[in-house]
Order: sequence, then C-alpha cells, then structure tokens
Amino acid sequence: MAGAVIGGTGFHEGIAGVTREVDTPYGPVQLWHDHTTQLWFVPRHGPGHRVPPHRVNYRAFIWALWQLEVQWILATAAVGSLRRELPPGRVVLVDQFIDWTRCRPHTFYDRDTVVHTDFTAPYCPTLRRLLGRQLAARGLDFVPEGCYVCTEGPRYETPAEVRALSAWGGDVVGMTNVPEVVLAREAGLCYALVAVVTNYGAGLSPGRLDHREVVELMSRVRPELTAAVTATLCEVPPGCVCPPRAQNL
Ligand code: HPA
Repeated sequence: MAGAVIGGTGFHEGIAGVTREVDTPYGPVQLWHDHTTQLWFVPRHGPGHRVPPHRVNYRAFIWALWQLEVQWILATAAVGSLRRELPPGRVVLVDQFIDWTRCRPHTFYDRDTVVHTDFTAPYCPTLRRLLGRQLAARGLDFVPEGCYVCTEGPRYETPAEVRALSAWGGDVVGMTNVPEVVLAREAGLCYALVAVVTNYGAGLSPGRLDHREVVELMSRVRPELTAAVTATLCEVPPGCVCPPRAQNL
C-alpha cells in the first residue's frame, strides 16, 4: 500500500522525485513520485504555489491518489490560531473539523446515488499516533488534538469571526482542509493533517496578517516536519480502523 504527502503552503517543494501526470474525471493532476521511499507527493496549490485555496481541484488529486492505490495520506497546512495558548510555531495533530466553506465542490457523491458518510472520526487515529511519535522524537512542539475550522478564503478572517469561530470550539483556522479530508474519507483513504500555527488569528494578533509571516514560519519548521512526515509514512503498518469506502465511486 502506498503513501502520499499533500504539501500545503511552505511545503510545496516537500519531496523530490519524478513527475507523473494522471487523468481523472475532474481534470489532469501532476504528482511527484520518490522511488527511494515509494511516496507520492502533491503540492496542494500546484507547482509554484499558484492556485488559491478556493480554486484547488481537491477532487482531481484525491481521485488520482486513489487510482494510484495510495492508502495513507499525510497532509500539511499552515493555520491561524484561534486561542492564545496555541502560539505560532506550535504543531496541531487535528482530530476534528468544522466546515465553514461556502462554494466548493465537496463530494464525489453528487450524482444519482445517495451516500451519507460517517465522520465521527474524520482523521486516521493510526497515522496521528505514529506522527505524534515522530514529532516528539524530533523535539517539535505539538498538541495531539485540535479542531480545525475551514473558511472559504482567500481573505483572512475579521476579529469578530475569530471570536465566533473560537466560541464554536475551533482551535485553528485555515482555508484548505475541507473538502480535502471529506473526499479522502469518501474514497476510503486514511488521512491525517499536521497543522502548523503560523500566526495568531485576526484580533489576537498584535498587527495585520501578512502571507509572508506564514511562509517564513513554515520554512523554519519544514526540515523537521518533512523528516517526521516521511518517517511516519515509511513505518505505517498494514491494516487500520478507518471505515472503508461506502460505495463504488
Ligand atoms: N486564517 C486562515 N487561514 C490561514 C491563517 C489564518 O489566520 N493563517 C494561515 N492560514
């Protein structure tokens, strides 16, 4: 069973290898394959980080990974913190999400089959546990759980929104994890997200938000994070408790 990394902001040159183009019903996808580790790599925002969060073709690359018989996906994401006790630099092994997106294709089941997928445990517990061990071994400062709120973007939130999302139970906010996690589960793939807090959310932050601070913080943690993510995918055992795909796609 193969593994894949979906690299977010600051992680799009994550893993070297040869490129491969895969055709899907949602359009072509360009992926990288590393022969040494046998891992696939997808830069979420495309080569050169050119695709904004609300225009990412999530269905195409999750479909492509499924077609390539990937079973394990580890994704990285830069996030804003909704809580003072989660400062920039902290890594969160997300275990829940709240979907606050508005206009993205968010399912493979949008034709004439009615499928309701269980989301009690949206993120793979096996991957989260192994990843926690690898992060700890490298001295990365992480929390083992947290709730990710996904906004539509590409703008950042207002301070009023940050207060509201925090009162809802969100810990961190980002613009990409939905529908990515949803599609992975619909395809029956084990998926985990390692979220790196790059800034305090608007209003908690002393100044205005700037994409440059996000990229800078990600580049500081990237070497250790790459090593932890790769090691996790290389040691993952066969079998998992995640539910299988509900129906043929
Ligand atoms: N809000 C939304 N997405 C983000 C943020 C944020 O503060 N930081 C990094 N991605």
